[in-house]
Amino acid sequence: MIEKDFVPKPYTNTVESGTVSWASPSNIALVKYWGKKAHQIPENTSISFTLNHCKTETKISFKKKAATNDFSFDVFLEGEKEDDFKPKIETFFKRIETYLPFLKHYYFKIETSNTFPHSSGIASSASGMSALALCLLSIEKQLGADLSEENFTKKASFLARLGSGSACRSLEGPIVVWGAHYEIKGSSNLYGVTYTGAVHESFKNYRDTILLIDKGEKQVSSTVGHNLMYNHPFAQERFKQAETNITALKHILEQGDLDEFIALVEREALTLHAMMMTSMPYFILMKPNTLEVIHKIWEYRKATNSKVCFTLDAGANVHMLYPDSEAQNVLKFIETELAGYCQNKHYINDSVGLGASAL
Ligand code: PMV
Repeated sequence: MIEKDFVPKPYTNTVESGTVSWASPSNIALVKYWGKKAHQIPENTSISFTLNHCKTETKISFKKKAATNDFSFDVFLEGEKEDDFKPKIETFFKRIETYLPFLKHYYFKIETSNTFPHSSGIASSASGMSALALCLLSIEKQLGADLSEENFTKKASFLARLGSGSACRSLEGPIVVWGAHYEIKGSSNLYGVTYTGAVHESFKNYRDTILLIDKGEKQVSSTVGHNLMYNHPFAQERFKQAETNITALKHILEQGDLDEFIALVEREALTLHAMMMTSMPYFILMKPNTLEVIHKIWEYRKATNSKVCFTLDAGANVHMLYPDSEAQNVLKFIETELAGYCQNKHYINDSVGLGASAL
């Protein structure tokens, strides 16, 4: 599908008011997206695990109004009016208006909450933009838009992408690819697709424990971060490496080679941070405790032959990925040796999950 396929035909129904609600998961990338072209087109293919428990739940109550030149909406986070979110949503509405031409004809009350603690340092933009896109699309469906189930998900992912790139991987599960890759059938730069290649038994119900090293505000916004890849001296090599890593990961997922998985995932995480450390301006997003934890994980792996590994987002928190069969031991290790490095000893246990659901 191409952009114009997401522009709807004239609506057939009149709807005065209503409510819609969706829950969308967070995701953690194995091969990272970092760098984009105009219109939120990624510079390289990325692939992620969808999470089971870290979700954003969003309800939209909508009411018809006279069409004006402005969008009309209010946002509430955990029940509190949150005007700080408005500019981001306004930008999102502007970007998607061509694809949802009813937006200026309604007032929207957007009520949103996260299942993970607010200001935990976990990015909620992926799950948040996904849930918002799904709610808006449910409204469009009520207006009579002709969308099959498959196209509904594609369009929701397409819209979510225009809110926050990685959000387009936060609809389905357990593994999602975004970005056209010659070895992934159906993959697209415009939306995420469920990974349909063979996945070894070892990856079933894979665990992710998120160590909250630093719950503070993001030091560098994603927008600023992606822009740092323009004219970055290593950018082109990095984009090529990501494409090669997708091919490598495809074989790893099929064969269940966990040592190869560890090497690829940890290198991807460190490459993302290396890009930020070598851009202009440059940033170090890890904290001392991020490094302490990484070294502890490496020591633990050496001592026990465990297959636990780490990955990082654009921040200081550490995601620990490990097979379900190791859960008991790894959780004991976390509690006794790693919790102390987390802010208020706080960490979140999650696992790979299936995707968004209507509420
Ligand atoms: O979706 P954005 O624009 O916030 O970018 C996030 C990119 C990373 O989370 C750092 C990596 C990824 O692929 O999720």
